[in-house]
Amino acid sequence: MHADASVTAPAAPPDFEALRADFPILHQQVNGHPLIYFDNAATSQKPRRVIDALVHYYEHDNANVHRGIHELSNRATAAYEAARVRAARFINAPSADEIVFVNGTTEGINLLASSWGGKFLKAGDEILLLELEHHSNIVPWLLLAGKIGCKLKYVPVEGDTGQVDLAKLDELLTPAVKLFAFPHISNTMGVVNPVHEFVVRAKAVGARTLIDAAQSAGHLVVDVQAIGCDFLVFSGHKILGPTGSGVLFGRRELLDAMPPYQGGGEMISSVDFYTAKWNTVPHKFEAGTPHIAGAIGLAAAMDYLDAVGREHIFRHDQELALRAQRGLEALGDVRIFGPREGRAGLVSFVLGQAHAHDVVTLADQKGIALRGGHHCNQPLHRKLGIKSSARASFYFYNTAAEVDRFLEEMARIQHFFRA
Ligand code: ALA
Repeated sequence: MHADASVTAPAAPPDFEALRADFPILHQQVNGHPLIYFDNAATSQKPRRVIDALVHYYEHDNANVHRGIHELSNRATAAYEAARVRAARFINAPSADEIVFVNGTTEGINLLASSWGGKFLKAGDEILLLELEHHSNIVPWLLLAGKIGCKLKYVPVEGDTGQVDLAKLDELLTPAVKLFAFPHISNTMGVVNPVHEFVVRAKAVGARTLIDAAQSAGHLVVDVQAIGCDFLVFSGHKILGPTGSGVLFGRRELLDAMPPYQGGGEMISSVDFYTAKWNTVPHKFEAGTPHIAGAIGLAAAMDYLDAVGREHIFRHDQELALRAQRGLEALGDVRIFGPREGRAGLVSFVLGQAHAHDVVTLADQKGIALRGGHHCNQPLHRKLGIKSSARASFYFYNTAAEVDRFLEEMARIQHFFRA
């Protein structure tokens, strides 16, 4: 199965404000105020097109895939496999066979740790991560290290900006490193890592590379061939798709060499009472009935995003984040994390003496949805010397007027805690 060539964005940016009409959930009052949804790094909202794709599937085509020889099963299988081809095109993977459907970034990384790590790593081998990692890209490797005795190392990031210390990276990236795994965009700092450059450096020492694209896949163009990575993972629910959907990309020869992750139906080619043979990739990694509707909804989300154009989305996200950053800076007595230039569409901050949970609770009373806590990023928060931060994370359906409302509210909360 071969995917089409890479995606070309529409030349002109869309009318982002008009696109809000496609998102039914946005048009409601929360706690008596118009909803301002700034928790997009946790999960995105869903356009009508995705909701309709799910409803259509369940109303017309629902059946199990790859098993039946009746019409509905044929339709469900065709739609599920078309979603795989769509996902390959979304990240410019050479082949749909290199797309494994998983239930999200977390499962994708657990699959790799268990299957690839379990087979190819041994005691003493090193896995290099960044201090920016969220728990999904730490804990699966900790579990593996506990089993086989491989070691985790972390590239430090600079102070509150979260920029990777490149001199330290070069020092730590030795031939003992067998895997260099890193986020494309940090979910706390909003740093956009130079992923191609990281891959080139990793290849020079013979390390495999894994990119956690959870925060990037729906926000900017991700091209696995241009990046040159071995593996890449992302979740469907952060890119307008259903929860429980996601993609693991792996280069064909690597997936071929990996053992299955879970056993069950569909991942086998034949089973005897005491032996079994595995199916070809990607089916070898999809045991049991998959999240068929999830894949179909995810394909609809990808169609939507590419019709809008991820280049345009990224620029819009960045403009909102910069507006929020500058507005918070103007308030004074706010600690803002992440780079001052070129941040992705999110801002984490500590507002004076106010606890992040209080900030989020008070904002919620005005209909503004933020995230407060450690953002599944405890080690980084400890390094920063804090337990929690508040975070506003943006998407293309957010507006400058919403950012201004958020800033007014932050000023009010700051005043409340000063009084
Ligand atoms: N990783 C997700 C977040 O940043 C859950 O909120």
